[in-house]
Amino acid sequence: MYCYCVFLLYLLLVLFYVYYNALLSGSEKWPWKGTIQIKLDAWLSAFEHCNGKSQSPINIDTHKVFSEPRLPPIKLEGYDLTGSHALTLINDGHTLQLSLPSSMRVMSGFDHVYVAAQLHFHWGTKEVPGSEHTIDHVHFPAEIHVVHYNSKYANLSEAASKADGLAVLGGFIGIGLHDNDNYEKILSALTDISIEESDTEIPGFNVRHLLPDSLDRFYRYNGSLTTPPCFQTVSWTLFNDSIRVSRRQLAALEDTLKTEHNKLLSKNFRAPQLLHGRKVLASFHTESTTRSMYSPY
Ligand SMILES: *[C@@H]1O[C@H](CO)[C@@H](O)[C@H](O)[C@H]1NC(C)=O
Ligand SMILES: *[C@@H]1O[C@H](CO)[C@@H](O)[C@H](O)[C@H]1NC(C)=O
Ligand SMILES: *[C@@H]1O[C@H](CO)[C@@H](O)[C@H](O)[C@H]1NC(C)=O
Ligand SMILES: [Zn+2]
Repeated sequence: MYCYCVFLLYLLLVLFYVYYNALLSGSEKWPWKGTIQIKLDAWLSAFEHCNGKSQSPINIDTHKVFSEPRLPPIKLEGYDLTGSHALTLINDGHTLQLSLPSSMRVMSGFDHVYVAAQLHFHWGTKEVPGSEHTIDHVHFPAEIHVVHYNSKYANLSEAASKADGLAVLGGFIGIGLHDNDNYEKILSALTDISIEESDTEIPGFNVRHLLPDSLDRFYRYNGSLTTPPCFQTVSWTLFNDSIRVSRRQLAALEDTLKTEHNKLLSKNFRAPQLLHGRKVLASFHTESTTRSMYSPY
C-alpha cells in the first residue's frame, strides 16, 4: 500500500515534470510526443533502479562491519599529473566535477583495472554537514568521489549499467586548522564557474593528494550511483582516514556555486539507504568482537 502510494505520487511528479518541460520547450521544434515518451521511460526506469535493494549511500555502522584484512590494497597509477596537463572543472548545476584522463587508473584492489573518469563532491551548508555516507550515523562536512570504470568497457557510459562496471573511491572531508594546498588548486577556481553549466581549465596536479594520506584502511561494499539512474553497479571503497580542509575552504565550496534560477548549489547529498542484508567489509581489524551477535547471516 505504502509503495503503491509512493508510486502514484512519483507518477504524478513525472507527469508534472513532463508537462512543465513541454511548456518550457513550447517554442522549439522538438518532436513532442517522442521527447515526452523518452523522458517518461527514463524516469520510470530511474524509479526502478533507485528503489532497488543495493542503493547508496549507506550508514557505516563501525560495530557491524566485517574485518577482511585480506582485501587487496588500493594501488593507484598515473594520478601524479603535472601542470602541463590541463583539467576541466565543471559546475553542472548538481555538483562540482573535475574531468580526469584515462591515464589515471586503479591497478589493484579489484579483479580488473579501473580507469578514472571524473571526481566530484557532495556537501551541505554551514549548519548541515553534507557527506553522503555516514559513520555511525554521523555526517562529515563533505565527501569526495573519484569515479572509475572497468577497463574492459569502452567508456564510463557503457560501463555504468554493467554489474562490474564501476569502482568509486570515496573520502570524508572534515575541518582542519590549516588551508589544504591541494584542495586549493580546485577551490581557488570556483569563482570562475559560479554560474550553472559553466566550466574552466585548471593546471594538472597530483590528484593523489586529494585523497587521505593512508589508503590502507578502507570499507568496501556493493552499492549504486547516488543520483538517477541509480545503477547498482558500484564497488564502493570508503577510506577510514579522512581529509582536512580549512573552515574558509569549506565555506568556499558551500557558498560559491549556483544552480538553476541562480539558487545556491548546496546540500547535494542523498540520504543513507537501507542495507537490505548487504555486508560492509573493512580492510583493517576493528574492535568489534560481537560478530556472531550482529551478523545477519
Ligand atoms: C561509449 O562506447 C560505446 C561503445 O563503444 C559507443 O557507442 C558510445 O558512443 C561511447 N560513448 C561515449 C560518450 O563516448
Ligand atoms: C560484491 O558483489 C560481488 C558479485 O556478486 C561479490 O563477489 C562480492 O563479494 C561483493 N562484495 C562485497 C563487499 O559484498
Ligand atoms: C575509522 O575507524 C575507526 C575504528 O573503527 C572509527 O572509530 C572511525 O569512526 C572511523 N572513521 C572513519 C571516517 O571511517
Ligand atoms: Zn557522488
